[in-house]
Amino acid sequence: MVSTLSTTFTGLNFVNPFILASAPPTESKRKIMKAFEAGWGGVVTKTIGLHPVENVAGPKTIYQRTSETKPYVSRMKRPDTVSHSSWNWELISDQPLELWLPDLEEIKTTYPDRMVIASIMAGAGSEEEMDNWRKLAKAVVDVGCDAIELNLSCPHMDRKDMGSNVANDEDIIRSILYAVKSAVSVPIWAKLTPASSSLLDGANAAYEAGAASISLCNTFPSLPLMDPETLKFEVEVDGLVTSGGLGGLAILHQSLQRVSDISRAFPDKSISGIGGIRGFREAFNFIVHGAGNLQICTAAMEEKGSGGVGIKLIQELKDDLSDYLERHGHSSIEDFRGIARERIVEHSQVRRKSDSYNGGFAQSA
Ligand SMILES: Cc1cc2nc3c(=O)[nH]c(=O)nc-3n(C[C@H](O)[C@H](O)[C@H](O)COP(=O)(O)O)c2cc1C
Repeated sequence: MVSTLSTTFTGLNFVNPFILASAPPTESKRKIMKAFEAGWGGVVTKTIGLHPVENVAGPKTIYQRTSETKPYVSRMKRPDTVSHSSWNWELISDQPLELWLPDLEEIKTTYPDRMVIASIMAGAGSEEEMDNWRKLAKAVVDVGCDAIELNLSCPHMDRKDMGSNVANDEDIIRSILYAVKSAVSVPIWAKLTPASSSLLDGANAAYEAGAASISLCNTFPSLPLMDPETLKFEVEVDGLVTSGGLGGLAILHQSLQRVSDISRAFPDKSISGIGGIRGFREAFNFIVHGAGNLQICTAAMEEKGSGGVGIKLIQELKDDLSDYLERHGHSSIEDFRGIARERIVEHSQVRRKSDSYNGGFAQSA
Protein backbone atom coordinates (compact mmCIF):
# COMPACT_ATOMS: atom_id res chain seq x y z
CA MET A 1 0.00 0.00 0.00
CA VAL A 2 1.45 3.35 -1.07
CA SER A 3 0.44 6.09 1.32
CA THR A 4 0.40 9.80 0.65
CA LEU A 5 0.20 12.90 2.78
CA SER A 6 -1.43 14.81 -0.04
CA THR A 7 -5.12 15.60 0.08
CA THR A 8 -7.73 17.23 -2.07
CA PHE A 9 -9.79 19.63 -0.01
CA THR A 10 -12.49 21.91 -1.46
CA GLY A 11 -11.09 21.01 -4.87
CA LEU A 12 -7.58 22.20 -4.03
CA ASN A 13 -4.54 19.93 -3.91
CA PHE A 14 -2.58 20.13 -0.66
CA VAL A 15 0.86 18.50 -0.45
CA ASN A 16 -0.05 17.77 3.17
CA PRO A 17 -3.19 18.64 5.15
CA PHE A 18 -1.45 20.91 7.69
CA ILE A 19 -1.78 24.65 7.21
CA LEU A 20 -1.02 27.69 9.33
CA ALA A 21 -4.17 29.45 10.56
CA SER A 22 -4.83 33.14 10.05
CA ALA A 23 -2.73 34.79 12.78
CA PRO A 24 0.82 36.14 13.41
CA PRO A 25 2.52 33.13 11.71
CA THR A 26 0.95 34.30 8.43
CA GLU A 27 1.11 38.07 8.96
CA SER A 28 3.91 38.80 6.47
CA LYS A 29 5.58 37.62 3.28
CA ARG A 30 8.74 36.81 5.23
CA LYS A 31 6.95 34.49 7.66
CA ILE A 32 4.84 32.78 4.99
CA MET A 33 7.93 32.11 2.85
CA LYS A 34 9.68 30.68 5.91
CA ALA A 35 6.67 28.50 6.67
CA PHE A 36 6.58 27.11 3.14
CA GLU A 37 10.29 26.44 3.22
CA ALA A 38 9.69 24.46 6.43
CA GLY A 39 7.04 22.33 4.69
CA TRP A 40 3.58 23.64 5.57
CA GLY A 41 0.98 22.60 2.98
CA GLY A 42 -0.70 25.99 2.95
CA VAL A 43 -1.45 29.15 4.87
CA VAL A 44 -4.50 31.20 5.66
CA THR A 45 -3.20 34.75 5.66
CA LYS A 46 -3.67 37.02 8.65
CA THR A 47 -7.08 38.62 8.01
CA ILE A 48 -6.96 41.50 5.54
CA GLY A 49 -9.53 44.32 5.71
CA LEU A 50 -10.18 47.84 4.48
CA HIS A 51 -11.21 49.55 7.73
CA PRO A 52 -8.75 51.33 10.08
CA VAL A 53 -6.89 49.01 12.48
CA GLU A 54 -4.97 50.07 15.58
CA ASN A 55 -3.99 47.58 18.24
CA VAL A 56 -3.90 48.16 22.01
CA ALA A 57 -0.90 49.97 23.49
CA GLY A 58 0.56 46.83 25.11
CA PRO A 59 1.18 43.13 24.45
CA LYS A 60 -1.29 41.65 21.99
CA THR A 61 -0.77 37.99 22.90
CA ILE A 62 0.31 36.10 26.02
CA TYR A 63 1.21 32.43 26.43
CA GLN A 64 -0.17 30.80 29.53
CA ARG A 65 1.53 27.82 31.13
CA THR A 66 0.95 25.43 33.99
CA SER A 67 3.17 23.08 36.01
CA GLU A 68 2.85 19.85 37.93
CA THR A 69 4.20 21.25 41.20
CA LYS A 70 2.06 24.42 41.18
CA PRO A 71 -0.69 23.70 38.71
CA TYR A 72 -2.11 27.19 38.31
CA VAL A 73 -2.28 28.85 34.93
CA SER A 74 -0.14 31.94 34.39
CA ARG A 75 2.04 33.70 31.88
CA MET A 76 4.67 34.10 34.63
CA LYS A 77 8.02 32.47 33.94
CA ARG A 78 8.39 29.35 36.13
CA PRO A 79 10.62 26.28 35.76
CA ASP A 80 9.22 23.05 34.29
CA THR A 81 6.01 24.39 32.85
CA VAL A 82 3.96 23.14 29.94
CA SER A 83 1.79 25.11 27.56
CA HIS A 84 -1.85 25.64 28.52
CA SER A 85 -3.15 28.28 26.08
CA SER A 86 -2.65 31.54 24.27
CA TRP A 87 -4.76 34.58 25.02
CA ASN A 88 -4.92 37.46 22.56
CA TRP A 89 -6.74 40.64 21.75
CA GLU A 90 -4.99 41.30 18.47
CA LEU A 91 -7.01 42.90 15.70
CA ILE A 92 -6.78 41.88 12.05
CA SER A 93 -3.75 42.79 9.89
CA ASP A 94 -2.67 46.41 9.98
CA GLN A 95 -0.88 45.97 6.64
CA PRO A 96 -3.04 47.59 3.96
CA LEU A 97 -4.41 45.60 1.02
CA GLU A 98 -2.16 47.46 -1.47
CA LEU A 99 0.93 46.18 0.36
CA TRP A 100 -0.43 42.65 0.70
CA LEU A 101 -1.11 42.21 -3.01
CA PRO A 102 2.47 42.18 -4.41
CA ASP A 103 3.54 40.02 -1.44
CA LEU A 104 0.83 37.46 -2.14
CA GLU A 105 1.75 37.38 -5.81
CA GLU A 106 5.42 36.74 -5.00
CA ILE A 107 4.56 34.02 -2.47
CA LYS A 108 2.39 32.19 -5.01
CA THR A 109 5.00 32.52 -7.76
CA THR A 110 7.73 31.18 -5.45
CA TYR A 111 5.63 28.32 -4.06
CA PRO A 112 3.05 27.41 -6.73
CA ASP A 113 2.36 24.00 -5.16
CA ARG A 114 1.35 25.46 -1.75
CA MET A 115 -2.14 26.71 -1.09
CA VAL A 116 -2.60 30.35 -0.16
CA ILE A 117 -5.98 31.10 1.31
CA ALA A 118 -6.61 34.80 1.86
CA SER A 119 -8.58 35.64 4.99
CA ILE A 120 -10.69 38.75 4.47
CA MET A 121 -13.11 40.76 6.58
CA ALA A 122 -15.47 43.68 6.01
CA GLY A 123 -18.72 44.85 7.59
CA ALA A 124 -22.36 44.12 6.84
CA GLY A 125 -25.76 45.72 6.45
CA SER A 126 -25.02 48.06 3.52
CA GLU A 127 -24.17 47.82 -0.16
CA GLU A 128 -20.95 49.68 0.59
CA GLU A 129 -19.79 46.91 2.93
CA MET A 130 -20.78 44.23 0.41
CA ASP A 131 -18.65 46.11 -2.12
CA ASN A 132 -15.77 45.97 0.35
CA TRP A 133 -16.07 42.16 0.55
CA ARG A 134 -16.15 41.98 -3.26
CA LYS A 135 -13.20 44.32 -3.62
CA LEU A 136 -11.05 42.37 -1.15
CA ALA A 137 -11.96 39.01 -2.69
CA LYS A 138 -11.34 40.07 -6.26
CA ALA A 139 -8.02 41.72 -5.44
CA VAL A 140 -6.52 38.70 -3.66
CA VAL A 141 -7.75 36.24 -6.29
CA ASP A 142 -6.36 38.41 -9.08
CA VAL A 143 -2.86 38.03 -7.60
CA GLY A 144 -3.16 34.24 -7.41
CA CYS A 145 -4.72 33.26 -4.06
CA ASP A 146 -6.25 29.80 -4.27
CA ALA A 147 -9.20 30.33 -1.95
CA ILE A 148 -10.81 32.86 0.35
CA GLU A 149 -11.58 32.47 4.04
CA LEU A 150 -14.30 34.79 5.31
CA ASN A 151 -13.54 36.01 8.81
CA LEU A 152 -17.00 35.83 10.40
CA SER A 153 -15.53 35.13 13.80
CA CYS A 154 -13.01 37.69 15.08
CA PRO A 155 -13.94 38.05 18.76
CA HIS A 156 -12.44 41.53 19.25
CA MET A 157 -14.70 43.78 17.20
CA ASP A 158 -16.46 46.83 18.65
CA ARG A 159 -18.36 47.12 15.38
CA LYS A 160 -21.57 45.13 15.56
CA ASP A 161 -21.48 44.38 11.82
CA MET A 162 -18.17 42.54 11.92
CA GLY A 163 -16.47 39.36 13.09
CA SER A 164 -18.13 37.17 15.68
CA ASN A 165 -20.83 39.81 16.20
CA VAL A 166 -22.51 38.61 12.98
CA ALA A 167 -22.30 34.92 13.89
CA ASN A 168 -25.93 34.59 14.97
CA ASP A 169 -27.32 36.37 11.93
CA GLU A 170 -27.94 33.90 9.13
CA ASP A 171 -29.11 36.62 6.73
CA ILE A 172 -25.82 38.46 7.12
CA ILE A 173 -23.83 35.24 6.66
CA ARG A 174 -25.78 34.53 3.46
CA SER A 175 -25.44 38.08 2.13
CA ILE A 176 -21.65 38.03 2.57
CA LEU A 177 -21.37 34.64 0.85
CA TYR A 178 -23.52 35.85 -2.07
CA ALA A 179 -21.46 39.03 -2.42
CA VAL A 180 -18.13 37.21 -2.45
CA LYS A 181 -19.39 34.43 -4.71
CA SER A 182 -20.53 37.02 -7.23
CA ALA A 183 -16.98 38.42 -7.36
CA VAL A 184 -14.74 35.33 -7.53
CA SER A 185 -14.93 31.69 -8.52
CA VAL A 186 -12.37 30.17 -6.11
CA PRO A 187 -13.54 28.05 -3.12
CA ILE A 188 -14.82 30.12 -0.19
CA TRP A 189 -14.27 28.94 3.36
CA ALA A 190 -16.36 30.49 6.14
CA LYS A 191 -14.59 30.77 9.50
CA LEU A 192 -17.12 30.68 12.31
CA THR A 193 -16.93 31.38 16.03
CA PRO A 194 -17.46 28.65 18.61
CA ALA A 195 -19.25 31.28 20.71
CA SER A 196 -22.47 31.21 18.71
CA SER A 197 -25.71 29.98 20.25
CA SER A 198 -26.79 28.86 16.77
CA LEU A 199 -23.65 27.38 15.27
CA LEU A 200 -25.48 24.73 13.23
CA ASP A 201 -27.85 27.32 11.76
CA GLY A 202 -24.90 29.55 10.88
CA ALA A 203 -23.06 26.65 9.26
CA ASN A 204 -26.21 25.65 7.36
CA ALA A 205 -26.64 29.22 6.07
CA ALA A 206 -23.00 29.34 4.97
CA TYR A 207 -23.07 25.96 3.20
CA GLU A 208 -26.44 26.74 1.55
CA ALA A 209 -25.13 30.08 0.30
CA GLY A 210 -22.17 28.35 -1.34
CA ALA A 211 -19.38 28.02 1.24
CA ALA A 212 -17.06 25.20 0.16
CA SER A 213 -16.01 24.64 3.76
CA ILE A 214 -16.48 25.80 7.32
CA SER A 215 -13.31 26.64 9.27
CA LEU A 216 -13.77 26.06 12.99
CA CYS A 217 -12.84 27.21 15.61
CA ASN A 218 -11.68 30.77 16.01
CA THR A 219 -10.55 31.56 19.57
CA PHE A 220 -13.01 31.31 22.48
CA PRO A 221 -14.08 34.61 24.12
CA SER A 222 -12.37 34.77 27.50
CA LEU A 223 -10.71 37.00 30.09
CA PRO A 224 -7.09 36.91 31.25
CA LEU A 225 -6.42 36.13 34.92
CA MET A 226 -5.78 38.62 37.73
CA ASP A 227 -2.76 38.18 40.00
CA PRO A 228 -4.02 38.01 43.62
CA GLU A 229 -0.97 39.88 44.95
CA THR A 230 -0.62 42.72 42.46
CA LEU A 231 -4.30 42.94 41.44
CA LYS A 232 -3.05 43.32 37.86
CA PHE A 233 -4.51 41.34 35.00
CA GLU A 234 -1.84 39.25 33.33
CA VAL A 235 -2.34 41.49 30.33
CA GLU A 236 -3.88 44.93 30.60
CA VAL A 237 -3.45 48.50 29.46
CA ASP A 238 -3.77 51.20 32.16
CA GLY A 239 -5.43 48.59 34.40
CA LEU A 240 -8.09 47.81 31.81
CA VAL A 241 -8.81 44.73 29.80
CA THR A 242 -11.58 43.44 27.57
CA SER A 243 -12.80 40.07 26.37
CA GLY A 244 -10.16 38.41 24.17
CA GLY A 245 -9.64 35.03 22.59
CA LEU A 246 -8.35 31.79 24.10
CA GLY A 247 -6.43 29.40 21.82
CA GLY A 248 -4.09 26.44 22.20
CA LEU A 249 -4.42 23.15 24.03
CA ALA A 250 -7.03 24.48 26.45
CA ILE A 251 -9.62 24.72 23.65
CA LEU A 252 -8.99 21.33 22.03
CA HIS A 253 -11.95 19.44 23.48
CA GLN A 254 -14.48 22.24 22.95
CA SER A 255 -13.25 22.71 19.38
CA LEU A 256 -13.59 19.00 18.63
CA GLN A 257 -17.15 19.05 19.94
CA ARG A 258 -18.09 21.94 17.61
CA VAL A 259 -16.41 20.26 14.63
CA SER A 260 -18.18 17.00 15.45
CA ASP A 261 -21.58 18.74 15.68
CA ILE A 262 -21.16 20.29 12.24
CA SER A 263 -19.61 17.25 10.66
CA ARG A 264 -22.43 14.97 11.88
CA ALA A 265 -25.10 17.44 10.72
CA PHE A 266 -23.46 17.91 7.29
CA PRO A 267 -21.42 14.74 6.69
CA ASP A 268 -21.02 15.41 2.96
CA LYS A 269 -19.65 18.91 3.46
CA SER A 270 -16.05 19.97 4.06
CA ILE A 271 -14.69 21.21 7.35
CA SER A 272 -11.28 22.59 8.30
CA GLY A 273 -10.47 21.79 11.95
CA ILE A 274 -8.78 24.34 14.22
CA GLY A 275 -8.20 24.60 17.95
CA GLY A 276 -5.45 23.24 20.15
CA ILE A 277 -3.51 21.16 17.63
CA ARG A 278 0.04 20.62 18.95
CA GLY A 279 0.94 17.41 17.19
CA PHE A 280 -0.39 14.35 15.38
CA ARG A 281 -2.69 13.10 18.16
CA GLU A 282 -4.77 16.28 18.20
CA ALA A 283 -4.81 16.45 14.39
CA PHE A 284 -5.92 12.81 14.29
CA ASN A 285 -8.85 13.64 16.56
CA PHE A 286 -10.08 16.38 14.22
CA ILE A 287 -9.80 14.01 11.25
CA VAL A 288 -11.82 11.20 12.87
CA HIS A 289 -14.58 13.74 13.56
CA GLY A 290 -14.64 14.64 9.86
CA ALA A 291 -12.08 17.40 9.24
CA GLY A 292 -10.27 17.11 5.92
CA ASN A 293 -7.82 19.91 6.63
CA LEU A 294 -6.06 21.06 9.82
CA GLN A 295 -5.17 24.60 10.85
CA ILE A 296 -2.64 25.46 13.53
CA CYS A 297 -1.73 28.72 15.25
CA THR A 298 -0.67 28.75 18.93
CA ALA A 299 1.68 25.75 18.76
CA ALA A 300 3.54 27.30 15.82
CA MET A 301 3.79 30.68 17.54
CA GLU A 302 5.18 29.07 20.68
CA GLU A 303 7.96 27.10 19.01
CA LYS A 304 11.20 28.71 20.08
CA GLY A 305 13.80 29.37 17.38
CA SER A 306 11.28 28.97 14.56
CA GLY A 307 10.44 32.64 14.18
CA GLY A 308 6.92 31.69 15.25
CA VAL A 309 6.12 29.51 12.25
CA GLY A 310 6.55 26.00 13.69
CA ILE A 311 9.53 24.57 11.80
CA LYS A 312 9.95 21.44 13.95
CA LEU A 313 6.20 21.20 14.36
CA ILE A 314 5.43 20.75 10.65
CA GLN A 315 8.23 18.20 10.29
CA GLU A 316 6.85 16.21 13.23
CA LEU A 317 3.28 16.44 11.97
CA LYS A 318 4.31 15.12 8.57
CA ASP A 319 6.56 12.37 9.97
CA ASP A 320 3.98 11.20 12.49
CA LEU A 321 1.12 11.19 9.98
CA SER A 322 3.29 9.34 7.47
CA ASP A 323 4.27 6.78 10.07
CA TYR A 324 0.64 6.32 11.14
CA LEU A 325 -0.60 5.84 7.56
CA GLU A 326 2.04 3.23 6.87
CA ARG A 327 1.62 1.29 10.13
CA HIS A 328 -2.16 1.12 9.66
CA GLY A 329 -2.09 0.42 5.93
CA HIS A 330 -3.96 3.59 5.02
CA SER A 331 -3.45 5.25 1.67
CA SER A 332 -4.37 8.74 2.94
CA ILE A 333 -6.29 10.49 5.74
CA GLU A 334 -9.47 9.78 3.77
CA ASP A 335 -9.28 6.17 4.97
CA PHE A 336 -10.06 7.17 8.55
CA ARG A 337 -11.68 10.59 8.16
CA GLY A 338 -15.02 10.73 9.97
CA ILE A 339 -14.80 7.29 11.61
CA ALA A 340 -15.82 8.73 15.01
CA ARG A 341 -19.04 10.30 13.71
CA GLU A 342 -21.40 7.38 14.33
CA ARG A 343 -19.99 6.81 17.82
CA ILE A 344 -21.17 10.20 19.08
CA VAL A 345 -24.74 9.59 20.25
CA GLU A 346 -27.48 10.93 22.54
CA HIS A 347 -26.75 10.39 26.24
CA SER A 348 -29.67 7.96 26.55
CA GLN A 349 -28.27 5.81 23.74
CA VAL A 350 -25.30 4.84 25.88
CA ARG A 351 -25.82 1.50 27.65
CA ARG A 352 -26.92 1.56 31.33
CA LYS A 353 -26.50 -1.15 33.90
CA SER A 354 -30.26 -1.89 33.63
CA ASP A 355 -32.66 -1.59 30.66
CA SER A 356 -35.13 0.68 32.43
CA TYR A 357 -33.56 4.13 31.83
CA ASN A 358 -35.54 6.24 29.37
CA GLY A 359 -33.54 9.44 29.03
CA GLY A 360 -34.86 10.84 32.33
CA PHE A 361 -38.51 10.46 31.27
CA ALA A 362 -40.96 8.06 32.86
CA GLN A 363 -41.14 5.01 30.58
CA SER A 364 -43.93 5.47 28.02
CA ALA A 365 -46.82 3.05 28.41
C1 LIG B 1 -2.48 36.33 18.23
C2 LIG B 1 -3.58 35.72 17.41
C3 LIG B 1 -4.10 36.43 16.33
C4 LIG B 1 -5.13 35.87 15.56
N1 LIG B 1 -5.61 36.57 14.48
C5 LIG B 1 -6.58 36.02 13.70
C6 LIG B 1 -7.03 36.69 12.52
O1 LIG B 1 -6.56 37.75 12.14
N2 LIG B 1 -8.03 36.09 11.80
C7 LIG B 1 -8.58 34.89 12.15
O2 LIG B 1 -9.47 34.37 11.45
N3 LIG B 1 -8.14 34.23 13.26
C8 LIG B 1 -7.17 34.75 14.03
N4 LIG B 1 -6.70 34.07 15.13
C9 LIG B 1 -7.31 32.76 15.47
C10 LIG B 1 -6.48 31.58 14.94
O3 LIG B 1 -6.46 31.59 13.52
C11 LIG B 1 -7.07 30.22 15.42
O4 LIG B 1 -8.39 30.12 14.95
C12 LIG B 1 -7.07 30.08 16.94
O5 LIG B 1 -5.89 30.61 17.51
C13 LIG B 1 -7.24 28.62 17.37
O6 LIG B 1 -6.17 27.83 16.92
P1 LIG B 1 -4.95 27.36 17.92
O7 LIG B 1 -5.59 26.67 19.09
O8 LIG B 1 -4.10 26.46 17.07
O9 LIG B 1 -4.26 28.62 18.33
C14 LIG B 1 -5.66 34.59 15.90
C15 LIG B 1 -5.12 33.89 16.99
C16 LIG B 1 -4.09 34.44 17.74
C17 LIG B 1 -3.51 33.64 18.90
